[in-house]
Amino acid sequence: MAGTVTALGDGVEDFAIGDDVLGPVAPGYGGFAQDTILDASSAVAKPEEISFADAATLPVAGATAYDGTHQIELEKGQVLLILGAGGGVGLMAAQIGRVHQFAVIGVASESKREVVEETGATFIASGPGVADRARGAAPGGVDLILDLVGGDALRELAPLAQDPAVIISAADGPTAEELGGSQLVRTVEALEKITGVVEYNLVDPHVSALYPLEKAADALAAVENGHATGKIVLEMR
Ligand SMILES: NC(=O)c1ccc[n+]([C@@H]2O[C@H](COP(=O)([O-])OP(=O)(O)OC[C@H]3O[C@@H](n4cnc5c(N)ncnc54)[C@H](OP(=O)(O)O)[C@@H]3O)[C@@H](O)[C@H]2O)c1
Repeated sequence: MAGTVTALGDGVEDFAIGDDVLGPVAPGYGGFAQDTILDASSAVAKPEEISFADAATLPVAGATAYDGTHQIELEKGQVLLILGAGGGVGLMAAQIGRVHQFAVIGVASESKREVVEETGATFIASGPGVADRARGAAPGGVDLILDLVGGDALRELAPLAQDPAVIISAADGPTAEELGGSQLVRTVEALEKITGVVEYNLVDPHVSALYPLEKAADALAAVENGHATGKIVLEMR
């Protein structure tokens, strides 16, 4: 979530009432609320340059995109394949890849071609024949597969990895491990890092829709169909 501090717990020194912040809600609390609670140690000051809507996407999707593109260090020019490139995590991961000058291949449905290509990635349509199409775009194999879909879609693309250990999944750890890869590991530093990158306008969180709190059920339904583009954010009045 992102918002403005209205009260402080005992011993909090890094923030003051009135500060704009972003961060994951404290365990046991929710973000679908006008007021909620953050653990000060996990919160980050919200830079003025980042809107509240964009800021709200960073603690989960943004930080995941950051970790997913850094868990295995790639060099400029190496190939990063993102499975699920048009979703909330995928679009940010593709843009991080562009910042590092990786050769990014984004796999998504045809309807997301434009939005994926806007990140600078090479678009590959998901569905039957996806592995052949991806192989055509990366004949030498792939240096990192960031999986945001899992299951059969991941199994089909896994052979493109130069080494199974470079398969990292945020969506389906068990399948990634079965294939020789691993589950994405979240780090504490990722939130500050992605906040800085977005502050300098190097990555756009791509908020595709804003819903008022009263329409939270519609917002959830739009995400649960599994084909969201970018992020959907709830806005408090
Ligand atoms: N471990 C963590 O901390 C963490 C944090 C955040 C997210 N996640 C997980 O990471 C995954 C992605 O999150 P998200 O927020 O980016 O989800 P999202 O916004 O719903 O995006 C998922 C994307 O996958 C695409 N997709 C679905 N089936 C596909 C297929 N067969 N081939 C290619 N693309 C396909 C969908 O679009 P189209 O099919 O329409 O192209 C959609 O754009 C979720 O499983 C989420 O639970 C984990």
